[in-house]
Amino acid sequence: MTPQDFEFCSVLLKLRSGLILTPDKTYLLTSRLAPLTRKLGMNSPDDIVAALRRKDRAVEDAVVEAMTTNETYFFRDPQVFDQCRTAVLPAMMKARGAMKRLRVWSAASSSGQEAYSLALMFKDEFAKTPGWNSTIVGTDLSEEMVERAWNGTYTHFEIQRGLPVKYLMAHFEDLKGSWRIKPDLRNMVQFRKLNLLEEFGSLGQFDIVFCRNVLIYFDPPTKAKILANISRLLPDDGVLYLGGAEGVLGVTEAFKPMPNVRGAYVPVRAPRPGASPKLGA
Ligand SMILES: C[S@@+](CC[C@H](N)C(=O)[O-])C[C@H]1O[C@@H](n2cnc3c(N)ncnc32)[C@H](O)[C@@H]1O
Repeated sequence: MTPQDFEFCSVLLKLRSGLILTPDKTYLLTSRLAPLTRKLGMNSPDDIVAALRRKDRAVEDAVVEAMTTNETYFFRDPQVFDQCRTAVLPAMMKARGAMKRLRVWSAASSSGQEAYSLALMFKDEFAKTPGWNSTIVGTDLSEEMVERAWNGTYTHFEIQRGLPVKYLMAHFEDLKGSWRIKPDLRNMVQFRKLNLLEEFGSLGQFDIVFCRNVLIYFDPPTKAKILANISRLLPDDGVLYLGGAEGVLGVTEAFKPMPNVRGAYVPVRAPRPGASPKLGA
């Protein structure tokens, strides 16, 4: 691939998905385009680039999809889920005791394990305090991942990654070779295709947003814009979760870390004009 072709692809990917591809990632582009060449019935990655230069939208979509990294697993970073359960949920449920409802967004849900982990956590918590329910929405740029997530069927390998056996036994059906989530759990979660670069206010308000291991692929202005948009979907006591390699320092002032809670961030609101200063402040 010529440097000009690489540059053309990287500009396109940044525009379409936010992905930043620096020249040292040429190998990544070529290794992802090689299998796509066969899939699209073309002869070489050069044919793909030629189609991209002709603005072939179907090929563009396929390239954007092929360049996504979909690595995920159940209860990824278990401490995050444990602390969400023990340090975040109790206060949040107390504050919403009248409504008994939580809305949660897994923003970049890949094949669904994060959203289903949240559903398992809520199922456990709500069993202790009946009358509660949740809406869990999973979204991802990749159509293939959204389809996989809806399907809720996982290989042995995927099941072995992070899913406690008690959940496997209670909530998965053995399809002899793979495992499918039972309807009671699947019905707690809905998935849809969504690009975080686009406007997502129509999703409505959420109490908790998991936006983990996706901002890492974007440049600082893109991260800042997405975080500002997420902040608008959260109430003042809402909580955002980012991945272990992600943070807000030097990126945005819309969030600050929640003290002593791993991976959790709370919105920072600009003071309202005319609001009186806090006593003692
Ligand atoms: C590494 S996975 C993270 C999955 C999960 N959140 C986790 O932490 O395990 C990143 C996901 O982000 C999605 N993604 C990449 N760019 C995106 C964008 N612009 N909008 C929405 N999703 C995007 C990819 O398709 C991929 O499934």
